Amino acid sequence: MDQPIRMKSNGQISVVLNSQKKKSLSKELPGPQVVPKVISPEHSALREIEDELGALVGMEEMKRMIKEIYAWIYVNKKREEMGLKAKKQALHMMFKGNPGTGKTTVARLIGKLFLKMNVLSKGHLIEAERADLVGEYIGHTAQKTRDLIKKAQGGILFVDEAYSLGRGGEKDFGKEAIDTLVKHMEDKQHEFILILAGYSREMEHFLTLNPGLHSRFPLVIDFPDYNIEQLMEISSRMLVEREYSLSHEAEKKLKDHLIWVKAVLSPSGFSNGRYVRNVIEKSIRAQAMRLLMLNSYDRHELMTLRSNDLVFDED
Ligand SMILES: Nc1ncnc2c1ncn2[C@@H]1O[C@H](COP(=O)(O)OP(=O)(O)OP(=O)(O)O)[C@@H](O)[C@H]1O
Ligand SMILES: [Mg+2]
Repeated sequence: MDQPIRMKSNGQISVVLNSQKKKSLSKELPGPQVVPKVISPEHSALREIEDELGALVGMEEMKRMIKEIYAWIYVNKKREEMGLKAKKQALHMMFKGNPGTGKTTVARLIGKLFLKMNVLSKGHLIEAERADLVGEYIGHTAQKTRDLIKKAQGGILFVDEAYSLGRGGEKDFGKEAIDTLVKHMEDKQHEFILILAGYSREMEHFLTLNPGLHSRFPLVIDFPDYNIEQLMEISSRMLVEREYSLSHEAEKKLKDHLIWVKAVLSPSGFSNGRYVRNVIEKSIRAQAMRLLMLNSYDRHELMTLRSNDLVFDED
C-alpha cells in the first residue's frame, strides 16, 4: 500500500499507521486544519483524548482518524441544532497487523475515547477469540456469539485472530459465528463497536469469505511493524513509566540486538512492542537479582539497567 489513507469506492477508508513515507504523503491528505490548533474549553474531551493518544509511539494516522471522528460527531451535533440531517455512521473496524503492533492497546483506548465522546455508553472492551464464539453443536454458536455481543453492549467487542473463524469452510461453526456477527453489527450498529483483528494476509483472505463483510467495516486500519527508532522509543517510554533507565552501554546493546533480531526473524515471528516489553521486564528481574547479590541499593543503581541485565531470547 502506498498511501496512508485510501478512500475506496465503497466508502471504505484504509488507514496506515506509522507510515514512514509521511513527509511525501502529507500533501495528499486533508490538511491538519480539521481540528483547530487552539482548543476551546468546550473541547476538553478532545484534549484528554490527545493526551491519551500522545502516549503511543507513531500511529499518526490512527491519531488523526480518531480526531476526525471527534470532529465529525461534534459537527453532526451542530447540524442537528440547525435542523440539518445528521446521520449516524457505523464505526466497526478491522485492524490488520503483526503481533505486538498495538492492536489490543489501541482497541482498549478507543473504548475509553468513545466513552468520552459519548459514542459509547460504557466504553469497555470484551476480548474474544474463536473458542469464545464457536460452539459445539448446531445453534450453540449463534447463542454463544449473541451472548458475547450482549456483554459488549455499550462497548467494544474485539475479536482477535478473527480469520480463524473462516477456517474449516462451509461446515465449520465458524461460519455461523460470522453470520451472527454480521447480522448484529447491522441491527445493533449504534450500540456496540465490533473490531476484528488479525495478521494482514489472513484478514484479507477472511474478507473474501463473505461478500457482505468488506462493506461492513468502514474503517480498515493497518498496523505496520515498528522500525528500530520506534522500538527504542517504546522501550524508553516503558522504562520511564516504570522509573528505570538504561545505562549508555545497555541502550547500545538493546539497539544492536533489535537490529539483529529484526533481521533474522520473519516479520510475523517478531512481536514488536511485546518483544520490547518482555526484554524490559526480564531485565528488571535480572537487575533485582544482581543488586541482591551485591547487597547494594543506592537510588541511582535501583533505577539503572546495565548491559549485563539485558536478557534476550528469541521470542
Ligand atoms: N505505539 C506504541 N507505543 C507504546 N507502546 C506500544 C505501542 N505499540 C505497542 N506497544 C506496547 O507493546 C505491547 C504489545 O501491544 P499489544 O498487545 O497492543 O499488541 P497486539 O497488536 O494486540 O499484539 P497481538 O496481535 O499479538 O495480540 C504492549 O505492552 C503495548 O503497550
Ligand atoms: Mg492483541
